[in-house]
Formats: sequence, structure tokens, C-alpha cells
Amino acid sequence: MIITIGNTKGGVGKTTLAVNVAIARALAGREVWLIDGDRQGTAQTAISIRSDSGHAPGIACASYPDGPTLRSQVQQQASKFEDIVIDAGGRDSTALRAAFAISDVLLVPFQPRSYDVWALNDIAALVDEARSVRDGLRAFAILNFADPGESSTDNIEAAEAVADVPQFEYLNTSIRRRKAFANAAGQGLSVLEIKPGDKKAKDELNALINILF
Ligand SMILES: Nc1ncnc2c1ncn2[C@@H]1O[C@H](COP(=O)(O)OP(=O)(O)OP(=O)(O)O)[C@@H](O)[C@H]1O
Ligand SMILES: [Mg+2]
Repeated sequence: MIITIGNTKGGVGKTTLAVNVAIARALAGREVWLIDGDRQGTAQTAISIRSDSGHAPGIACASYPDGPTLRSQVQQQASKFEDIVIDAGGRDSTALRAAFAISDVLLVPFQPRSYDVWALNDIAALVDEARSVRDGLRAFAILNFADPGESSTDNIEAAEAVADVPQFEYLNTSIRRRKAFANAAGQGLSVLEIKPGDKKAKDELNALINILF
């Protein structure tokens, strides 16, 4: 399955989720390829830290910030992998558009804040465009940095806002603001691997994986 974790908005947790999802699938025994479609190369850096420290399983990772190259490379190499996870972002990014057009699933993280919710409308246009060449493309919006309070109004309002953007299915599981997510990705690890572990972070990642795959 090809999944793109993308958003035109920055700092919403695209790289954090892409690294965690890719590692979680590799831990489950899948052949995984992580693609960094962002010029900043953060996902690639995280995976380099992982391999430099000898952490297993190793994750195949490539960086294709140029859309046409990303598309042709994925199309050529796709059959060698079971899961391909693409981290793509940035307004007007050719990589984001190319990734949308070759994916089976889009996962759009957003924060429970107005600007993020508005950005969903922006991405909805890209989803429409991708669907014109990719029938059956599924697009999920997931709340990241959700407020720790169990039934925070922000979270409820965000869910309602997604309901107004018909291009997206709201993922009824969210990722909360937790140090474990920031700490793990910085070490090239998933929250399933860091020590000491954070059970709630693990449960959230596993719930996301179960829904997506
Ligand atoms: N659920 C979370 N809890 C706590 N910190 C988080 C969470 N998700 C992401 N972060 C932190 O927030 C910051 C932004 O996350 P990240 O780099 O994954 O976002 P991004 O969308 O890839 O950003 P960019 O647009 O710059 O590529 C990072 O410092 C990351 O460690
Ligand atoms: Mg990033």
C-alpha cells in the first residue's frame, strides 16, 4: 500500500507520523520504503540517525523532493516493497501533488486550531485533483497534538469542521500531544521502541496503524 502523510501546512506532524508509521510496519515484518518528499529532509535525517546507531529493523529511505522524480521512482520500485510511506509537504510542492496522485491512502494530520482546519479546504482541492487521475483514493484527516483532556472542546470542534469538508473521512482516533512522539522521532525511533516507553503513545500509534492497514 502506498500512503502519503501530507499537508500544505507546516509543523503539523507529517514527519513524526511518517517515521512512526514506517517503523511500526517494519516491526510488523513488512518490507517498507520511507520516502522523504520534503526538501528539508527531516525524515531522511531521522532514518540516518537510526541506521548510524545500528537500530534494527533498518528502514529503506530515499529523498525525492522533486515531484516527477518521486513519481517515476515510486512507480519503478513499488513492486519491491509492501508498504511505501511518503512524507510530503509544502504549498505548491510538486512532490506533494505527485505523491497524492500515486497513493492509495492520504493521511492529513492537522492541529485542533482554526488555521489548520482552514488548511483542510486548501488540501481538499488537491484531493479532488488527485482523484481525477486516481479513482478510489481514500483521504483521512487525523488530529495530531490533540489536547490531553479527554473531551476537549477543541477536539470536538475539529471533528465537526472535518465533517464540513466532504473530501475527507475523519479518523476517529487521534494522536495527542506527548513528549514520547517528539523524543522518539528525534532519535530515529518509533514510540513503540523508545525506553522508557509511553503506553498511551503506543496505543495511539497502534490504533492508527490498525485503521490504516
Ligand atoms: N503528537 C505530538 N506530540 C508532541 N510533539 C509532537 C507531536 N507530533 C509532532 N511533534 C513535534 O512537533 C514538531 C513538528 O512535527 P513534525 O516535524 O513532524 O511536523 P511536520 O509537519 O513534518 O513539519 P514540517 O512542515 O516542518 O515538515 C516536531 O518538533 C515534533 O517532534
Ligand atoms: Mg516534516
